Amino acid sequence: MIPANVIEDIRYRCDIESVISSYVSLKRAGSNLKGLCPFHSEKTPSFTVYPETQSFYCFGCGAGGDVISFVMRTENLDYVAAVETLAKRAGITLPEFGDKQRDDGVTRTRVLQMNLEAAKFYRKMLYDDNIGAAGRRYFVDRGLSMMAIKRFGLGYSPPSGNQMLKHLTSLGFKPHEIQTAYFAGKSERGYYDYFRGRVMFPIIDVSGNVIAFGGRVLDDTKPKYLNTSDTPAFKKSRNLFALNYAKNTDAGYMILCEGYMDVIALHDAGFGMAVATLGTALTDDQARTLKKYTGKVIISYDSDEAGQKATSRAIDLLEKAGLETKVLHMEGAKDPDEYIKKFGKEKFRSLIEESRSKFDYVLANTAAKYDLANDAEKIRALSEICTYIAGIHSSVERDIYIERAAKSYAVDRKSLENDVNSRMRRLAKENDKKRRGELIRVTSGIADRVNPDYAKQPKAARIEESLLGILFIHPEYIRRTVDGQALSAEDFTTSLGRRLYEKVTEAGDHFSLGILGEDFTFDEVSRASEMVAGRNELSDNSETTYDTFVRSLRKETQKNGNSSATLEDILRRKRGELS
Ligand code: CTP
Ligand code: MN
Repeated sequence: MIPANVIEDIRYRCDIESVISSYVSLKRAGSNLKGLCPFHSEKTPSFTVYPETQSFYCFGCGAGGDVISFVMRTENLDYVAAVETLAKRAGITLPEFGDKQRDDGVTRTRVLQMNLEAAKFYRKMLYDDNIGAAGRRYFVDRGLSMMAIKRFGLGYSPPSGNQMLKHLTSLGFKPHEIQTAYFAGKSERGYYDYFRGRVMFPIIDVSGNVIAFGGRVLDDTKPKYLNTSDTPAFKKSRNLFALNYAKNTDAGYMILCEGYMDVIALHDAGFGMAVATLGTALTDDQARTLKKYTGKVIISYDSDEAGQKATSRAIDLLEKAGLETKVLHMEGAKDPDEYIKKFGKEKFRSLIEESRSKFDYVLANTAAKYDLANDAEKIRALSEICTYIAGIHSSVERDIYIERAAKSYAVDRKSLENDVNSRMRRLAKENDKKRRGELIRVTSGIADRVNPDYAKQPKAARIEESLLGILFIHPEYIRRTVDGQALSAEDFTTSLGRRLYEKVTEAGDHFSLGILGEDFTFDEVSRASEMVAGRNELSDNSETTYDTFVRSLRKETQKNGNSSATLEDILRRKRGELS
């Protein structure tokens, strides 16, 4: 745990208003500030900063927290790294806490140190006359230039002798640390090298830290790639390969590929704006990360079916993150790497220039899926296109697409428009119904992902949230006795409420929303700050209000405790245990 007084110091010196202002342009609204939410795309500001409680909350997407949570989210950092960043900003030298113990006692700093040593070691092995020959031959066969090998810090993991394990041990790292960092596995016979006989691709974050590795076999053995899984220094779903380089190009766009080799081939051919996900489908986090560095992304996934499926998904995620999104269309090669080898970089450059807008992509995709000479299939294709157009908000955009679709399918523009309109009416109705359903679900607490216990005793849960909201603002109230007794964990009905209560007790007057980032998920922190936001909008957070809430919560818990006992009785009676 990072000492509470350190966190407090950081929060004090990193005023939330000034920190958030460097990311979001804020306008004063009464005693609060408002701006466009950086976590979802919106046109009217619902992102609110509360200087008084040093917290933020977005009424649009529900993201919230304090200055630490804000930095965690925007910079894609974990708790410790966010605290470090803020400390640096405030000019605070941190005590040893940066090396605080986590997981099985292995720290982020230790893992980063191991990663750096490992990168150097793999590189050295690649250039080793004997050991590295196979790796070097592989890279040469795949047409990589010496420059690319150097630039990406590529390496080779020795096939035998557990040399990485020995090397890291000799540098003072303990076997369990080496295992946590994914350089060793463990069997009955002891620890062994995780990466063996593979060419190695280091993954480097935007600050230049080596955070993980991918290792490819030299032949067709499975698995083709082994990758570092999540460690205290690495989260796969947040990082992108080669972003450390791509962020410095000024092309005005980035190319998103599927594989390491695609990126390396592209950079080698002069397309330094290429990045790739790390062997997983694109995530929300990655889309948001991209948005921080560019305004436009050209998707260049593999041309196979899997690649095309992934493309559709990626378009949606990227657009949701507010990025202009285009799709590169490739024929005659399965991926960018192969395309450049076959047709050269100039051809690839024209593909970039000709990359399709989302609508063109949809048009081409449906055309490829159906046999348009067959009337029934043509109707199905058109119906798919109408549905797509009906989902677009801008009427100008819809108009343009209707025009284009009518032309390309040689059908009457007016009838196509009618079809789109009737579909829109149906969609509106469905949405209406869905919204109403959602409202009912939310108010009755059903399907509450973040606080799954809410529905069990909604009234008590509601009181709990108000109570916690007040406590987050006034953690000192926790010492109050109400009717002779202080609030206790037993008074809470939901496990989220109980955990939050326990955290406030533990932190005492040092409590801040930010420390929740240590053991609560983003969604849970957001919920907590929603509780604060709820109280911020009201003026009365006095001790008497607190007392009143404590009393009502106790009353509810008791009542429910009794009623659940009766329910239990009924069940037992049914089972015949009670006469
Ligand atoms: N990948 C993985 N595990 C596998 C296969 C793939 O993690 N068993 C990930 C890797 O990050 C890889 C990406 O998915 O880069 C895309 O896969 P693929 O197109 O097969 O990889 P390439 O990098 O193009 O590799 P190569 O051209 O050497 O086959
Ligand atoms: Mn490939």
